[in-house]
Amino acid sequence: MNTPTSFSLRCTAKVFETTDAVTLTLEGHWPHQAKPGQYVILGVDIDGERCYRAYSLCAPSDDNRLQVTIKKVPQGKVSTYVVDVLSEGEMLDVSAPMGQFNCVDIAHHSQVLLLSAGSGVTPLMAMARHWQTIDNPPQFHFIHCAPNAEEMIFAHALTTLADKGQASLVYTRAHAEESSQQPPKQDAPTSVLAGRLTQAQLLTLCPDIAHRSVFICGPEAFMADATQWVTNLGCTSVYQEHFSGPATSELTPELEVLESAQSDSVVKIAVPSFGVEQEVAQGSALIDGLEAAQLPVIAACRSGVCGSCKCKVESGEVTTTSQETLSEEEIAAGYVLACSSHIVSDVVVSLG
Ligand code: FES
Repeated sequence: MNTPTSFSLRCTAKVFETTDAVTLTLEGHWPHQAKPGQYVILGVDIDGERCYRAYSLCAPSDDNRLQVTIKKVPQGKVSTYVVDVLSEGEMLDVSAPMGQFNCVDIAHHSQVLLLSAGSGVTPLMAMARHWQTIDNPPQFHFIHCAPNAEEMIFAHALTTLADKGQASLVYTRAHAEESSQQPPKQDAPTSVLAGRLTQAQLLTLCPDIAHRSVFICGPEAFMADATQWVTNLGCTSVYQEHFSGPATSELTPELEVLESAQSDSVVKIAVPSFGVEQEVAQGSALIDGLEAAQLPVIAACRSGVCGSCKCKVESGEVTTTSQETLSEEEIAAGYVLACSSHIVSDVVVSLG
């Protein structure tokens, strides 16, 4: 189902970054200017069902043209379809750009460290590419962790930055396969390490780190470690992209656990503005009930981080595990994230 804020764009190019990650170029009427670091919600038809997920832009957008990078994740319905099946020429729904993790809204910085792992590199690459096109960019250094050179998204761009001294690459797979750290290959750029990144290596790679603003994006465990390290090293301006949806997962383990906590009792979801009532098992995720009733809700990340599933509980009780994108005023007014809310009693909900 098309949403009021979505646009129908054609995929004009599909380029493999690695064997399981692609960059799509989408063109058509899209009257927006994304801020580097932002994401969009894509809607694709899979087996007759329109599915929505959020994906980060990987480069500055032009009028009516944007690029997103999508990595296939295990059991990822949309990412698997996009990587394995989607063809150039296909039409996709594309939302307006979203997200506060961007280098425009966040105050200007003169010295920046971009710190990423895996497909968390995508929004940070958008920032780096943006800075390469403007006057008086910040002085930035990019540290990226990938399993190895072959599985590194944006390998050419990152290697080029590394050769210019603007990036350091950490190939983590060597740590799992080798008991000792490997020296860089002869033909590798000089700023290449093998093994897992550590706090000590971070300081070696970026000795003035304490004076830099730091943007971090990657798997949750990486972000937790990286945030601890940069804090220990004296950084005070640290920004994280908690949006694991586009980067690493389409369904969090936390949600899977909660889904299994449903009871035999039945409760009712009422959505008066659509004249809909839906019975569901008590403890069900609110998003599942709304989708079962075929209501026009978008759940892009299903992880409580993108905000696309926001709705208002007018009455009744839900438990919630994430209010990440909601303001205090919205929470006080009864807004919840449907993907992160589980139904305790009969509820009346409004959408939009
Ligand atoms: S789907 Fe992203 S917050 Fe619910």
